[in-house]
Amino acid sequence: MEQAIETINLVRVFSSPQGEFKALDNVSISVPNGIIYGLLGPNGAGKTTLIRILATLLLPTSGDAYVGGFHVVREANKVREIINLVSGGERPGYGILTVRENLMYYGQVYGLTWSETKRKIEELDQLLGLSDFLDKRLNRISTGMMQKYALARGLINDPDILFLDEPTLGLDVNNARAIRRVIKRLVEEGRIKTILLTSHYMAEVEELCDYISIIDQGRIIARGAPEELRRMIEKEIIYDVDIRLRDVDRLNFLKRLDSVIGHTVKTRQLSGEARIRMILSSEDIGTIIRRLEDEGIHVLRVSRSEPSLEDVFLKLVGKGISDEEK
Ligand SMILES: Nc1ncnc2c1ncn2[C@@H]1O[C@H](COP(=O)(O)OP(=O)(O)OP(=O)(O)O)[C@@H](O)[C@H]1O
Ligand SMILES: [Mg+2]
Repeated sequence: MEQAIETINLVRVFSSPQGEFKALDNVSISVPNGIIYGLLGPNGAGKTTLIRILATLLLPTSGDAYVGGFHVVREANKVREIINLVSGGERPGYGILTVRENLMYYGQVYGLTWSETKRKIEELDQLLGLSDFLDKRLNRISTGMMQKYALARGLINDPDILFLDEPTLGLDVNNARAIRRVIKRLVEEGRIKTILLTSHYMAEVEELCDYISIIDQGRIIARGAPEELRRMIEKEIIYDVDIRLRDVDRLNFLKRLDSVIGHTVKTRQLSGEARIRMILSSEDIGTIIRRLEDEGIHVLRVSRSEPSLEDVFLKLVGKGISDEEK
């Protein structure tokens, strides 16, 4: 059976006065029809670059990519007919027009008649709940409304394949949940055949995706169904250690300890504490605690934890997926 998306040794190099930078390094992925496929990776991993190539907005440096069986360079027009792209945080459209007028405009761009577009907007209103703001100007609506509108715009041509680049970026918990619910329904109800979604939230791809590829520094470093990825870490020794927030800056030495395979720190401003999550190579947490205390770090609590999918990245890369580069 033909794959919805296929890339073969895809490479993208960006050149600048500072030199060349490989944003995608031999990426080969295969996305079957009918699934939600997740591309998970930290900032700068290459997710948007890959999506832009697949959406025919950017040329690859080398390698091949097919979308719906069409080559993204040689048959770009064919690809464009069957796809759409929604990017989180983007505000596509004309600010001084209303949401409805913008959708009417995009309907025309895709060659729908006036009445077809009107019907389409009603249908999208049913699906997404647009009625509260359909007649508001685009530059007057909230971030949550904007993301619903952007999704509506992405569905106006009934694409077979929908690219969603960080669809819940910047949304609060409730709005993000609403968007995720819609994404699920799109595929369940057969409205969209295949979705390729990027995110740097493990919980999001875990909830939505049938298959996940983890990308870091332009390379796919792991792939599998969520259960398969979970199996990679089920035997890992994982501890959570709570410390005071003010000691966080002293944790750099953990990187140099052979017994710590990876660690990530989550700060909790309200309680003035931070939680270090560590994957260890042995059960000897005692030594680690002593090392922390030698550094003058007061350990508040220690607990052995069950692995979660997020620990796959921690194990492979040594740091958390949302950790900022210092
Ligand atoms: N037009 C460009 N010119 C030069 N470098 C670029 C360009 N576009 C992207 N890059 C670089 O390529 C790398 C990958 O960027 P990309 O936007 O694909 O990452 P991403 O995974 O989408 O990250 P984020 O989570 O921040 O959206 C980054 O280091 C980025 O700085
Ligand atoms: Mg991006």
